[in-house]
Amino acid sequence: MASLSQLLTRPAATFSLSSPSPSSPGASFWPRPRRGAVGRVSCTSSTGEPDASRFDRRDVLLGLGTVGASATAAGIPLFPRRAGADPVATPDISSCGPPDQLPPSANVLTCCPPPSSASPVDFAPPADASSSPLRTRPAAHSAGADYVAKFNRAIAAMKALPPDDPRSFAAQASVHCAYCDGSYSPDGFPGLDLQVHNSWLFMPFHRCYLYFFERILGSLIGDPTFAIPFWNWDAPDGMRMPAMYAEESSPLFDRRRNGRHVPPKLIDLDYNGREPRFTDNQQVDHNLRVMYRQMISLSPTPSLFFGSPYRAGDDPNQGPGPVENIPHGPVHIWCGDPEQPAGEDMGNFYSAGRDPLFYAHHANIDRMWSVWKGLDPRRHTDLTDPDWLDASFLFYDEDPKLVRIRVRDVLDMDMLRYRYQDVPTPWRSARPVVTTQWVRSTSSSLLAPTARAAGAKEAARFPVMLDSPTRVTVKRPVSERRSRAEKLAKVEVLVIDGIQVDMDVAVKFDVFVNAGEDHAAVGPGGRELAGSFVNVPHRHKHDKRGRAIKTTLRLALNEQLEDLGAEGDDSVVVSLVPRQGKGKVKIGSVKIEIMD
Ligand code: C2O
Repeated sequence: MASLSQLLTRPAATFSLSSPSPSSPGASFWPRPRRGAVGRVSCTSSTGEPDASRFDRRDVLLGLGTVGASATAAGIPLFPRRAGADPVATPDISSCGPPDQLPPSANVLTCCPPPSSASPVDFAPPADASSSPLRTRPAAHSAGADYVAKFNRAIAAMKALPPDDPRSFAAQASVHCAYCDGSYSPDGFPGLDLQVHNSWLFMPFHRCYLYFFERILGSLIGDPTFAIPFWNWDAPDGMRMPAMYAEESSPLFDRRRNGRHVPPKLIDLDYNGREPRFTDNQQVDHNLRVMYRQMISLSPTPSLFFGSPYRAGDDPNQGPGPVENIPHGPVHIWCGDPEQPAGEDMGNFYSAGRDPLFYAHHANIDRMWSVWKGLDPRRHTDLTDPDWLDASFLFYDEDPKLVRIRVRDVLDMDMLRYRYQDVPTPWRSARPVVTTQWVRSTSSSLLAPTARAAGAKEAARFPVMLDSPTRVTVKRPVSERRSRAEKLAKVEVLVIDGIQVDMDVAVKFDVFVNAGEDHAAVGPGGRELAGSFVNVPHRHKHDKRGRAIKTTLRLALNEQLEDLGAEGDDSVVVSLVPRQGKGKVKIGSVKIEIMD
């Protein structure tokens, strides 16, 4: 989150409060009630020049007097709504442009969908939900031969369609490239990229994407009950690439994958680009603790779980939620082929959708959303911010017609008529463990050789370039023991701010809290490992900073501090340890804030 002073000094961006464009859909979407705005003002005059009277909505905050360091420490929301802010919306697809700056190897001219002669229609859920069949997405590793045969048929039919058919596999794969590699600008902000990663749009965008992908497959095989499989990487039985995707003769196979990671190789949910030297049992144990950390320790509230707000006019990449960082990022990188120029297919966002495995990976990410809500139904709720609920995307459905769908349309899986096969979630009891002296003395040989016996240099001042492990002592805003209720109401959050990375570089760095002299002895399931930042390579054409993205990592600390016995301390020692993309990530600041 930018500080108040940053917000007030940001240069004005062009924005539009204009009426719906002729191609926009009808009244059920626009105009929606606007809070605090006096009316729709166009910032583009008839000459096409920006209107001189424009103002930057980002300069206007709600509750000005309450934002600032001391207020944050007192528990004021870190994400105040800006007056007059709007949800991000995909403009008409005719505005889709080339995804330039793709890797030279990309050989892609456009990621844009085929044009539509008709205006988009608003998404409508099945009118009589109870009469439309429920689709149950199965765990890929346990699906039977009949299901696998049917799924193969559906993907083969999709691959057989010509690329200018929006239902074709090629067009479906391009959807991801278009929304992740700068083919669109948010409606009204031609100077900015529309980006569905690294913010609160991550979960809902991918849910919409899979929804239409699944409906198209079902219609191609004439089976409205057809459901895509999910890759159950969060449970031991699913921690390998599902066999159906590894069959070379199958349309589910993709040549551009890491050849070392075919079954029966266990996945490393904390993958650094290096092969870990764990036994299978250790790997499973680490994976489960990593899942616990991301889904439970780091996700105590909706605002932490979903990631940072991203509204119309914001720079993209405001900050990913925990699940988007891990395991989402490492699974992408683990699948992609390191021999390809840009980690294709899964290891780069522009090409990820070309691997059929992508959709199974994301089905499990989507499942995590519903599992997380079930962990604590009273507190684990969807966000209620209208700029999230009304954010909208464009997709082709199975007809194919162009549909505009909002986040609020996809919160209820029952309404969308799908659900997930019920499978065990053993990570729920795999709370990370404090690294004992014994483990410290015996286990560091298991860890990445570069990390072994690594002390960390003390950061003299920020920003720092993360070329080696770097340590900083951070003051805490509270240093007394608080009740569980207090801690849940006001979460202590480690904020790694001003993270700058080249967007086309794979980056991972780990963040340790009170790891002592030797963070290298702490494994992926160790409590001292507070969390990680992961960048899956991608490109944007519009970004004013060129190839860099700037983003923020937020790590809830409540459980870590409890387990480390550090709740009474005035400060903690934070170690930032680069794993992938060493020397290619800059850190602006490290602080602890209290967040509602
Ligand atoms: Cu849109 Cu897994 O990325």
